[in-house]
Amino acid sequence: MKRIAIFSSKPDDKQFLALANQDKNYELVHFENRLKPETVKLAEGFDGVSCFVNDIVDETALTELHRLGIGIIALRCAGFNNVDLETAQRLGIQVSRVPSYSPESVAEHAVAMILALNRKITRAHLRVKEHNFNLDGLMGFNLQSCTIGVIGTGKIGLATLRALSGFGSRLLCYDPFPSEAGAALGEYVDLPTLYRLSDVITLHCPLTEETYHLINREAIAQMKPGVMLVNTSRGALLNAQDALDGMKQGKIGYLGLDVYEMEGEIFFRDLSGRVLHDDVFALLLSYPNVLVTGHQGYFTREALTEIAQTTLANFDAYYAGHKTGNELF
Ligand code: NAI
Repeated sequence: MKRIAIFSSKPDDKQFLALANQDKNYELVHFENRLKPETVKLAEGFDGVSCFVNDIVDETALTELHRLGIGIIALRCAGFNNVDLETAQRLGIQVSRVPSYSPESVAEHAVAMILALNRKITRAHLRVKEHNFNLDGLMGFNLQSCTIGVIGTGKIGLATLRALSGFGSRLLCYDPFPSEAGAALGEYVDLPTLYRLSDVITLHCPLTEETYHLINREAIAQMKPGVMLVNTSRGALLNAQDALDGMKQGKIGYLGLDVYEMEGEIFFRDLSGRVLHDDVFALLLSYPNVLVTGHQGYFTREALTEIAQTTLANFDAYYAGHKTGNELF
């Protein structure tokens, strides 16, 4: 029986991995800790490890995993910006991921954020709970009459375009690798044009050296006054300080974040009653036109089922000496 250490595990991971393990024979040991250099020793005595989005799989952690004899890391996510792939490859540690698990889960969350921000649903809800039925300040706009820019037209970007196409908005998209599927749903334009024309911009590209702080002061300056920005992809696509400045100047009218660059120390845990030490994040939370969710775009029943099944299938293939195509090198 292979023993697998599941890092960054939450009760739902436990439940869905146990279901996926019903016809398999892994011993799954769950750790709430993120994998990082300080916690990597927990992997001692295991045959494989599984990590999540905010685990720090850097050179130090990988060197220790190698020393402990770990040959596989199965990521329970699509993005892999938190893994030093070069070092993993050099040490011969295979890294696999779940490249596609219900892209609709994230796409629908992005659309939910667009609608909630536009129609001020959370403010309206809080007001009505207090029996205040005044509509002042709650006016929205018709999505039908606006232009929406989608950056990144991979699996999630396309699912977002499909979902948005029902509103009748003009849909623009940007991707260095345009696809026919994307062109059938929206108009490909260059980034400056997308910035200039879009009332709403939603990010669906991966975090790479090229996309780090893609949305910064210069990009924001090119956007329409009052633009709505939604980021359900990776926090570091957006320079949060520049976004705050853009909001203070009224350049950004609405900001929806499911991800945040410094989320590693904040998200996926209950910090109720504690003081937040991240001033930028605390300020963002205080703005009435900012909507934050804690990296829950992926969090649907369908996605968790797929993540658990694919993760265990990735271990199956590794131990059987097969490839699945989910390996990162
Ligand atoms: P994908 O690999 O199918 O598509 C990514 C697309 O981005 C590709 O078409 C690629 O050509 C494009 N791209 C690459 N560089 C770009 C650039 N500089 N500008 C614009 N587009 C660029 O990936 P998928 O499945 O659509 O996921 C996208 C991202 O969503 C992931 O990398 C991950 O960061 C994020 N994600 C967020 C989740 C959440 O829970 N909030 C869950 C799953 C993924």
